[in-house]
Amino acid sequence: MPAYERMILMAGNANRTLAQHIAQAVRRPLARVVVSRFRDGETQVLIEDDIRDADVFIVQPTAPPVNENLMELLILVDAARRASAGRITAVVPYYGYARQEKKAQGREPITARLVANLLTVAGANRLLVVDLTNPAIEGFFDIPVDHLSAAKLLASQVKNLCRVGEDIVLVAADEGAVRRVDRFRRYFHQEVPLAVIFKDRPRPDEVKVVGLVGDVEGKTAIVVDDIISTGGTLVAAAEVVQHHGATRILAAVTHPVLVEGAVDRLAETPIERILVTDTVELPALPPLFQVVTLAPLLGEVLNRIHYGISVSELMRNNVPL
Ligand code: R5P
Repeated sequence: MPAYERMILMAGNANRTLAQHIAQAVRRPLARVVVSRFRDGETQVLIEDDIRDADVFIVQPTAPPVNENLMELLILVDAARRASAGRITAVVPYYGYARQEKKAQGREPITARLVANLLTVAGANRLLVVDLTNPAIEGFFDIPVDHLSAAKLLASQVKNLCRVGEDIVLVAADEGAVRRVDRFRRYFHQEVPLAVIFKDRPRPDEVKVVGLVGDVEGKTAIVVDDIISTGGTLVAAAEVVQHHGATRILAAVTHPVLVEGAVDRLAETPIERILVTDTVELPALPPLFQVVTLAPLLGEVLNRIHYGISVSELMRNNVPL
């Protein structure tokens, strides 16, 4: 018996497509919610359905335009709390500001922490996120956080692009991706070698590769990362593995933030295919990109939260989705 009788799913404007697909996966309609703008640009929210005492899930990744989407999320949470929701889970597959989780130099903010505070103060009782840049962000919250990984789904699709016996190396796009790539290896055979790229950011949004550890020569390099924003990291990764003799380059990245110019920049690289998920609302993409949907995974997790079934077990076991 679930703790809250009704499950209610609602969404802001950040990724309506994913929200619809999750709604299909849990076989429930999206609640009727108006999320628009007043003429002065302020966000207007009106929940048109009765949500009293319900288990409410608000799907709203805080992808660009980050501040707009974040504000929508906060106001939706506030509206749900004031409408007497029983429990509110913020479903934020892409957590904006995650890369501002520490002070790189003095007099900088820790905006990932500020966002955590805002969400909690607004009234979120739980958070559901996917592939945080730094898992330590979970510790910014005093509410339960379910942190999912897209590794299994991305790995199984990228494996389909490889021949049996193909000589593969899994490449961490930067030091931060080492754990991620190791997790990826679980879905390949354990002998698959790893390589790590070391990068520097001389300026924000600029990337300089300072080293590569590992052997990529004569191999298919599968570059793994969490976010493509400007594409700079992936472009630099492709150049360095090609320079060191990789014969084929594939990439698997969870969040395709893809700021303006990124798609064109990536089209000029030797990368054969880039697998991404749908945590972020996507424009029409060229065939270079292959989108792996997380809707069935997120739907299963929403059901598990609602019915009080372990989410870690799902992530641990090889439950097919
Ligand atoms: C942080 O370093 C992340 O793991 C990504 O590597 C980074 O955010 C990608 O950004 P860009 O595409 O702008 O290089």
